[in-house]
Amino acid sequence: MIHAASLLHDDVIDGAETRRGSPSSNVEYGNKMSILAGDFMLGRASVALARLRNSEVVELMATVIANLVEGEFMQLKNTATDETKAATAETFDYYLEKTYLKTASLIAKSCRSAAVLGGAEENVVEAAYEYGRNLGLAFQLLDDMLDYTVSAADLGKPAGADLKLGLATAPALFAWQRYPELGPMIKRKFSQPGDPERARELVEQSDGVQQTEQLALEYSTKARDALAVLPESDAKAALVELTATMQNRKK
Ligand code: FPP
Ligand code: MG
Repeated sequence: MIHAASLLHDDVIDGAETRRGSPSSNVEYGNKMSILAGDFMLGRASVALARLRNSEVVELMATVIANLVEGEFMQLKNTATDETKAATAETFDYYLEKTYLKTASLIAKSCRSAAVLGGAEENVVEAAYEYGRNLGLAFQLLDDMLDYTVSAADLGKPAGADLKLGLATAPALFAWQRYPELGPMIKRKFSQPGDPERARELVEQSDGVQQTEQLALEYSTKARDALAVLPESDAKAALVELTATMQNRKK
């Protein structure tokens, strides 16, 4: 419910017209109803959470809601960009911190909460968190890659959207390392006529897409490795399989 609420709000912020192959809620019902629907789902999710009567889990999931907003805020600000230089370690740190907050935190803390509710030992709780954190980072890196490589029809949501929204995600940051002319465009959020098209060309000429996929693979491998402390079981096998399914997803 928290995830669905965040997407209802996200489609308003992004002005998206489709979601999961259908008209998005903001198009179908308008911005006001979408925001209220998201708020309502958050309210109902909070009630369900309170009913668990576990204060550690309430704290974890309440933190997730704050993290989602912090991540979205970091994305809107999009600082840590010095257009005179190539992409620095700081630029990637900012991007990865934003990615943790807007995507990985929900998966990581949900996994952690499940382990806490199951009464697991501390090392398993920690492993569950690491699994979710790395899976979440890989998931969003691939999401940012697919925005460049898959059509809107196949994605079921807008494609090539990030540049149009002024966002420099991993493929563009990697491309910037090779093509310094991306710096000023990133700084001005691709706002001049022709910026998104030129940036896309440069990303295609670079190996930004491949480097993004490679980085995602490193995180999905770390997610799989975090499961090593768990005893063999069908559940563990399913979690391992999920890392591969996610890494190979096409939409
Ligand atoms: C999708 O990102 C959006 C998110 C992962 C989080 C959005 C969070 C908010 C709007 C903050 C409000 C939060 C709550 C809990 C109401 P994306 O735009 O990169 O992905 P997309 O291509 O699927 O739209
Ligand atoms: Mg969006």
